[in-house]
Amino acid sequence: MIKLISLLLLSVSSHSIAATRLLNEPISPIPDAIIHSVEQVELGRLLFHDVRLSENDQLSCASCHSLKKGGADGQVVSSGVNGHKGLINSPSIFNSSLNFRQFWDGRADSLLSQVDGPLNNPLEMNISWAGVLAKLQQDTFYVDLFKQAYATGLSINNIKAAIVSFEESLLTPNSRFDLYLKNKANAISTEELEGYRLFKQYGCISCHQGAAVGGNLYQTFGIMGDYFADRGNITPADLGRYQVTHDEKDKYVFKVPSLRNVALTAPYFHDGSAKNLEAAVEIMMVYQLGRISTKQDIRKIVLFLKTLTGQYNNKPL
Ligand code: HEC
Ligand code: HEC
Repeated sequence: MIKLISLLLLSVSSHSIAATRLLNEPISPIPDAIIHSVEQVELGRLLFHDVRLSENDQLSCASCHSLKKGGADGQVVSSGVNGHKGLINSPSIFNSSLNFRQFWDGRADSLLSQVDGPLNNPLEMNISWAGVLAKLQQDTFYVDLFKQAYATGLSINNIKAAIVSFEESLLTPNSRFDLYLKNKANAISTEELEGYRLFKQYGCISCHQGAAVGGNLYQTFGIMGDYFADRGNITPADLGRYQVTHDEKDKYVFKVPSLRNVALTAPYFHDGSAKNLEAAVEIMMVYQLGRISTKQDIRKIVLFLKTLTGQYNNKPL
């Protein structure tokens, strides 16, 4: 029944969007989140912010994916329990349900399989699910909440499911750019619109498109130049999908990241090497497109990227 209702809601809302949306644009607006169970999402929110999900109660998921920092942590690479430095930059948790795969190298095919990663990683939370369950079982508050949210109560599977429900609620609709796509001509300025035109004209759009402006394909980092040789100090994290497939042609191949809310999540790239958007766009121009661009064009593209900041719970991020 619930499924049927949400299906109906889906078809009604996509119908009304199609009626008023600018057609033939390679970027589509982010839909509103569909909440199936408020109890499950709320439980997931609590778990996401609970340090008991780590060894010695040091870190929560939110330590590296802060909702106040665009869903990331603002660090070059994240630090895990006991201050262990991680190997790679933390991506935003916002809109992660729109990604076709999870992680920079795409090694998880769903949010549900992703969630084991940080928990068991010795450089991140370093704990087993059994360890988390044992801690939460001592808290009657959680035991009661789980009873209300799931017929089967507190269990490892339900802890994971609640976190995923919360993650699925983290969509950020109604950015100024989405309002423009929904036909509000004044939602973005002439310069920002010019930035979008350049984004398409230079070819950024061939990799960063769809509702998430990315997150739906793999690409080599350094198609038109050897980014890694130029940067130096190659680490295992730089190998990208090669780490998953051990296939030579997957070396330096990454999931193209979403550019939604990108203005909030500096520094950029899997190695956190670009301090600001101007630097990131310049590197993309050179290594992905083989273009030397003007300062003005880069400035306008950055102005466009800043219109991609959306809302969460009806408030600007
Ligand atoms: C110590 C910091 C840290 C903690 C704690 C952490 N993460 Fe992450 N998260 C990262 C990093 C770094 C990556 C990227 C890793 C990679 O791609 O290899 C990541 C990737 C992800 C992704 C994939 C996003 C994408 O765009 O590919 C999701 C989803 C995610 N984390 C959810 C969680 C959840 C849920 C928790 C808590 C159970 C959590 N994270 C805890 C740092 C952290
Ligand atoms: C051939 C595919 C491709 C093209 C074309 C491309 N990108 Fe990218 N972009 C990527 C990939 C892959 C990454 C991830 C690189 C990494 O960190 O490993 C990325 C990363 C980025 C990031 C950093 C995002 C983050 O969260 O760290 C920005 C910003 C960006 N691109 C903007 C642009 C702009 C602007 C253009 C056009 C000038 C462009 N890209 C063209 C594939 C592409």
